[in-house]
Amino acid sequence: MSEPLRVLITGAAGQIGYALAFRIANGELSPGKKVILHLLEITPALGSLEGVVMELTDCAFPTLQGVVATDKVEVAFKDIDVAFLVGSMPRKEGMDRADLLKANGNIFKVQGEALSNYAKPTVKVLVVGNPANTNALIALTTSSKLSAANFTAMTRLDHNRSLAEIASQLKVTADKVKNVIIWGNHSNTQVPDVSNAVVELDGKTVKVTEKIDEAYLKGDFVSKISLRGGAIIKARGLSSAGSAANAAIDHVKTWIHGTKPGEFVSMAIPVPANQPYGIKTGVVFSFPVTVTNGVIKVVEGLPVSEWLQGKLKATEDELQGERSTAFGALGLA
Ligand code: NAD
Ligand code: LMR
Repeated sequence: MSEPLRVLITGAAGQIGYALAFRIANGELSPGKKVILHLLEITPALGSLEGVVMELTDCAFPTLQGVVATDKVEVAFKDIDVAFLVGSMPRKEGMDRADLLKANGNIFKVQGEALSNYAKPTVKVLVVGNPANTNALIALTTSSKLSAANFTAMTRLDHNRSLAEIASQLKVTADKVKNVIIWGNHSNTQVPDVSNAVVELDGKTVKVTEKIDEAYLKGDFVSKISLRGGAIIKARGLSSAGSAANAAIDHVKTWIHGTKPGEFVSMAIPVPANQPYGIKTGVVFSFPVTVTNGVIKVVEGLPVSEWLQGKLKATEDELQGERSTAFGALGLA
């Protein structure tokens, strides 16, 4: 029988952690495969985490082989195959995600070291905690034994929001839309781009740009997607959790099982050495990617309009700025 999948969720008693734990325990990442959940929390939240473990037990999931619940990184990160790095402070109304750099940066410095010391060398790391791109960069920088290929940050939520918005405009379900792209930072400067997206309408595949007005796609659509996180905070008084957990599961499933032929998704990854689309190395940037046998590859050669070029530059500049602030504050080189 194959080894169980050891999956770490940090911040497991928080909103997103709670939404993730049950789906992962129920085998959603790799159907049929046994799972051992590693749940990390800060010491004051251990009581609440115990309640989550009780509930997980009471589900009697056939796939759940064990649960390790702890406030110790050396226990939580031991031999893990997948890490959902969620635990950190969410923003409140009126804040930008970058305002969280000071509060959250140190968490990812410590956890980068723990990944390096205790996780499997093949570990797949998804950073969800904000500002996700720069936190992933911090973790990568402090994990001396791992490589860039181990690290990603989440823009799948923005990707899914884009699929859903286009589907709603065209009055189809979201599965009929594919190949939207989120470029850059998971922030207000992100670039939701549908210039390569297609939709299945009445059995025919057509370009989204042939069906929806260009002014809308470059205007209200971009603002709606990039400001959606803030709109949810305003409406709920809390940041997105169910949809964030869903996107995190989508992201890791794609990483494990690959993309479908002809399809790409958005993932934030350390910029590869060949600097696709002219984006300089040294930041974690969201690109259109395909995944085969666990290897993430940027889709290169897509046309870049003048409009897109300007927006890519703005989101890249923002990431370079976040990097300087974080590395300065944390004493990283
Ligand atoms: P939450 O406050 O409900 O939960 C966070 C949990 O993390 C808490 O239980 C807290 O005790 C725990 N925690 C704090 N420091 C920790 C540490 N050092 N180790 C382990 N656990 C720790 O927050 P939430 O709503 O679950 O959001 C978590 C993070 O995810 C936030 O930073 C939020 O902004 C971010 N987020 C990102 C996306 C995305 O698309 N990338 C989407 C939604 C939310
Ligand atoms: C989101 O996009 O919903 C999250 O990043 C939460 C936030 O702060 O917007």
